[in-house]
Amino acid sequence: MKGLILSGGKGTRLRPLTHTSAKQLVPVANKPVLFYGLEAMGAAGIGDVGIIIAPETGAEIRDAAGDGSRFGVSIEYIEQDEPLGLAHAVLTAEPFLGDSPFVMYLGDNLLRDGIVDLVDTFRTEEPDALILLTPVPDPEHYGVAELNGEGRVGRLVEKPKEPQTNLALVGVYMFKPAIFDAARAIEPSWRGELEITDAIQTLVDRGLRVDPHIVHGWWKDTGQVQDMLEANRLILDDLEERVEGELVNSRVEGRVVIEEGARLERTTVRGPAIVGRGSQIRDAYIGPYTAIGEEVAIEKAELEHSIVLSGSSIRDLEYRIEASLIGKDVRIGRGPALPKAYRFVVGDHADVQIL
Ligand code: DAU
Repeated sequence: MKGLILSGGKGTRLRPLTHTSAKQLVPVANKPVLFYGLEAMGAAGIGDVGIIIAPETGAEIRDAAGDGSRFGVSIEYIEQDEPLGLAHAVLTAEPFLGDSPFVMYLGDNLLRDGIVDLVDTFRTEEPDALILLTPVPDPEHYGVAELNGEGRVGRLVEKPKEPQTNLALVGVYMFKPAIFDAARAIEPSWRGELEITDAIQTLVDRGLRVDPHIVHGWWKDTGQVQDMLEANRLILDDLEERVEGELVNSRVEGRVVIEEGARLERTTVRGPAIVGRGSQIRDAYIGPYTAIGEEVAIEKAELEHSIVLSGSSIRDLEYRIEASLIGKDVRIGRGPALPKAYRFVVGDHADVQIL
């Protein structure tokens, strides 16, 4: 069995962060989203993993994931010229996948319980495809499945305006090679993509066996800012306490990770929270569900339920920062006393809210 992780695409919904970097590398609890998928492959004993990359962000993904040895897998990178859809990505990977069954994992998805049990079920049951479904409150944002009387998959629709069920397709799929012919048989959708939902529908229409598996542990598609913050909260909830950095007149409460080389002075950190390597935090409060990346400087400021990426600095704020996603090397601080005015240098598609 082989693995295929989809890490191409454009990441338009995570702009401005993804103007300069791949959405699959935005960290959740200080670890790139993509790494959770690679770890899941390693844990399920899938040794050969192909990663679909885009020409614009591929180099960065290669640099981050390397040869895969640290995840217990061997990685082959497969360039997809244009993001023409998930089924197009599958066809692009056909030479790598050959006639092996495979697990496909969307590189921006997080699945709490991993894929070990699913891979076992797929191996023993041997359906032509196994898809993961979970009930969601907003099915119109996902692929949606209808089951037939025997509990098999009957109909699949990609992001329907009027969903017939609340069962969303989770971004993990298991396929036998029949999927290639099905992907060749479909036409691009209204959004110009070869949809994997349509390819799976073709399997159903051809009388092949498509089994559903309902996911009970949490699942997150981190495609948008609110989802990123939610995923951060869910991962931090399982954090194990570890304080390796230096604490000077500071207090940590609850499940907190302070990584090596980080230094806290006159600061309180209330977990679950993580502070990355080399970060310097003074006269500050870091509240629950906050992930501070590496080499971040925070002084006279309070943060809660937020993600701050590496190299940023936050200083002298009057009010607490909440539910925020702050990119790499960002500076937030107070300017000269007069004239009293806001002063911004903010990238495209940014979102700034002031009291
Ligand atoms: O997250 C689950 C949903 O993922 C499913 O419910 C939908 O049925 C499925 O179509 C997909 O929807 P999205 O609109 O969220 O897919 P997105 O464009 O975000 O792409 C998912 C991942 O695949 C992402 O890591 C980028 C990558 N990708 C995407 C395209 C379109 C590629 O590598 N190549 C592509 O051509």
